Amino acid sequence: MTQQRGQWSGRLGFILAAAGSAVGLGNLWKFPYIAYENSGGAFVIVYIGAVALVGLPIMVSEIILGRRSQLSPVGAFKKLGEGRPGGSLWTGTGILGVLTGFVILSYYCVIAGWTLRYILMAVGGHLGELAAAPDGFGAYFDGFLADGPQQTLWYTVFMALTVGVVYFGVQRGIERVAKVLVPILFAILIALAVYATTTDGFGRAMTFLFRPSFHELSRGAILEALGHSFFTLSLGMGAMITYGSYMKKQFSIPRAALTISLLDTAIALLACVIMFSIIFSFDLEVRKSSTILFTTLPLVFFKLPGGSVISAFFYLLVAVAALTSTISLLEVVASFAIDQLRWTRRQAVLVMGGTIYVFGVLSAWSFGGSAKLSEINLIGRESTAGVFGTLDYLASNWFLPVGGFLIALFTGWVLLRKDAQAELEEGHGPFGFFAGWRALIRFVAPLVVGAIIVSVILGAEYQ
Ligand code: PHE
Repeated sequence: MTQQRGQWSGRLGFILAAAGSAVGLGNLWKFPYIAYENSGGAFVIVYIGAVALVGLPIMVSEIILGRRSQLSPVGAFKKLGEGRPGGSLWTGTGILGVLTGFVILSYYCVIAGWTLRYILMAVGGHLGELAAAPDGFGAYFDGFLADGPQQTLWYTVFMALTVGVVYFGVQRGIERVAKVLVPILFAILIALAVYATTTDGFGRAMTFLFRPSFHELSRGAILEALGHSFFTLSLGMGAMITYGSYMKKQFSIPRAALTISLLDTAIALLACVIMFSIIFSFDLEVRKSSTILFTTLPLVFFKLPGGSVISAFFYLLVAVAALTSTISLLEVVASFAIDQLRWTRRQAVLVMGGTIYVFGVLSAWSFGGSAKLSEINLIGRESTAGVFGTLDYLASNWFLPVGGFLIALFTGWVLLRKDAQAELEEGHGPFGFFAGWRALIRFVAPLVVGAIIVSVILGAEYQ
């Protein structure tokens, strides 16, 4: 018996689910940290350029591939590649995507678990106590990371939440949760942003972010901005292929992709405005920018009136953003089993989720012993020791760019022009920018992403 394939109930369901996938730790944790390290301004402009010229066209491509084939990545490439140059070789791109989803989910849930611990500590008043102690957060965080059982506990809870949502399927699980959580995320973010405008550091934060000084821009910064545009938009592994496959034909792909990219970018910038306004208000020196979110920021929250409340909401925001992302990661793997192996959703989610879970325990334990605060470089550009660091390094530096590169090549050079155009215009009407999009996907995206890959091969400096 074949089960009926899931579908979003409407346009809003798709947009919220896809925006929920895009907005995650990449926006709230990673972007502020790399924007800070690369001195804002010019870096922000390059990042926006990367999203517009590379990210957006690839997102359009992924949704086209998904909706055209009505299948998740492996099936999509198999079906659309049939009889075309390269033929079944393209299936490998889909398999790489599933593997990437597997790997990212396993370590992403570890970081996401930290936010649960912080919410609880905010509510219980413990964050306040740490804030009062000298180097309270630094010392706490080091100990917390090295505590394997504690890491495994929060990781387990987060994975269980993810499995619990995906289990209920596209409409009753993913869409329903996105419709509740994503608006909550926006509301908390806007409230915090309004609050940020009242702080002393707001002016300085805006100058830092939006006044470019191009002489400070390094080649490494440009590559970092490009690489990050993939991660933040959930591109290069077929998350958008999968979500696109549940989209109805009467909705416009270009409009949806534009909305998702704009939301994702706006939220990354808002996160910076919030964090930098608060941090600059107290002229705090950020010693280690990669842990701003868990060590510097909570300290600052408690210099403000209502620190417990602000921090509880803040970590809730991060947890919600992470959950709507982990859901999409698991859905890519689960939908592979459903579409290709003909498993039931129940079986797919439990078996795949369970396997990823067991694998991820390695990451949860990987901070033990010698791992110190100063050594972690989450979702970073450099290889760091340990399972967590290695997986992250592989996924962000290799799997996503290589996947994105292949997706661009496939859509630009293998998929027939008329098929791409037909899918793009279905639900949209004549698409005036079709030639522009096609030029971006055939030439600009492969060249730019190719450059990222070459520079990784050559071991270019990312700092
Ligand atoms: N886009 C998510 C973030 O910014 C991460 C992610 C990557 C989710 C790839 C799904 C697929 O945190």
